[in-house]
Amino acid sequence: MTMQERLFDLKRIYEQIKKRPPSRSLGLLRNPFPPTGIAGTGEEATPFYPRQGYIKVLSEFVRSSLQGSDFCGLVVMGEYGSGKTSLLRHFAKEVASAQARGIPVGAVYVANPGTSFADVLQSMTRSIGQTVLAKYAWAHVINWLKVSPTDDRFSAVGLPVPPKDQLATLSDAHEFWALFHEQLDISREDIAGAVTSVMQQTLPDLGFAEGLSAIMLGDRSSASKTWSQLTKTLPPYSTKKPVPTERMASLMTVFKSNGVEHLFLLIDEVEDVVFYRMTKKLRDDFTATLRASIGEHGGNLSIALASNLPGWHLLVRGDASLEDRFKFRIELTELTSEEIHRLIGYYIKQAKAPASDVATRIFQGPVIDLLFKFRRRMPRPILTACHSLVENFWNLDHEPSPKEIEQFLTSD
Ligand SMILES: Nc1ncnc2c1ncn2[C@@H]1O[C@H](COP(=O)(O)OP(=O)(O)OP(=O)(O)O)[C@@H](O)[C@H]1O
Ligand SMILES: [Mg+2]
Repeated sequence: MTMQERLFDLKRIYEQIKKRPPSRSLGLLRNPFPPTGIAGTGEEATPFYPRQGYIKVLSEFVRSSLQGSDFCGLVVMGEYGSGKTSLLRHFAKEVASAQARGIPVGAVYVANPGTSFADVLQSMTRSIGQTVLAKYAWAHVINWLKVSPTDDRFSAVGLPVPPKDQLATLSDAHEFWALFHEQLDISREDIAGAVTSVMQQTLPDLGFAEGLSAIMLGDRSSASKTWSQLTKTLPPYSTKKPVPTERMASLMTVFKSNGVEHLFLLIDEVEDVVFYRMTKKLRDDFTATLRASIGEHGGNLSIALASNLPGWHLLVRGDASLEDRFKFRIELTELTSEEIHRLIGYYIKQAKAPASDVATRIFQGPVIDLLFKFRRRMPRPILTACHSLVENFWNLDHEPSPKEIEQFLTSD
């Protein structure tokens, strides 16, 4: 996003208010390194360094996805702090920006799938959003009534048949309301009942016909309660137990009607779930739904999973039909010293004092060699070490010597 497109530059305002004098000893305006090394907590400013090793795999994954004949799966494997979350989030950002430029794609990032596939579906629902879903449902109801405006169809849902010419031009919720409530004097309850009944008959698999009608009719308090139930737990309103694969199909229809021809579903932290929270039964259900969704929506859906290696193996254990579908693989291995150099360079660039090359000299020289020698060579330990190093030497009255840096980096 360029400066011109921004409403305000919050980062700059923050820095003006919380200003501390730049560090002369380090040649930095601020500390650019993340303090905790958890991706996604500090936003826009976090730089992303695309590692050479996976750029090609990612574009092949996208190409193959958009060709659309077959299901495409990607697994991102890596241990703790290796950059899985940053990669998926960055991927989601790229898709969103393509979407903003008119490409019919979309991405849903699920931070942690929970213990059943239903949780993934909640995240998808949430990402569509209440307003869009209600608009979609209204259009759906109106079309259904218009397709075959027989007496039977209307009486089955408890509505009178409106004058033909008025029905023909009906196109949105406001007009529906004006016609049935204001002109034909149908009560709010009866309209809600009709909407619910249409939804149940035609889109039962969204799983929340009654809840959705509260949202559609703009009943604020019950709408917001309903929405939080819809997106958190299993829908309480459902007349039948929602079947995950059917609900997935309905959600895919909604995405499609919103111009998303291809959906990238990005599921992070898979290991957390398969290891700590899933019983064998839950795991089997999860993989069964995953497999079914892949089979049904192959051409319009791609899934990327991020997990550590044992988590991935546990998820697909003994299931070749699932494992074979995830043919794109990225393994986030330890950084080479060249990669540490580049990674740190991306951060330094954000905060380097103009006309000073101290930061470059320090961080691109002795620091890298030391980190390479003494730290686990993954982004998190490398970046958090840089963060604490900057904090430690911020107010020093001279440029820290290689000896001082070494002492600091080897002391904790
Ligand atoms: N390619 C990259 N470019 C810039 N920063 C990165 C990159 N990869 C990782 N990082 C940074 O390293 C830290 C750890 O990365 P991240 O949280 O993505 O790892 P993770 O593999 O998801 O960890 P966990 O196993 O705890 O979920 C974060 O601060 C993140 O911003
Ligand atoms: Mg992560």
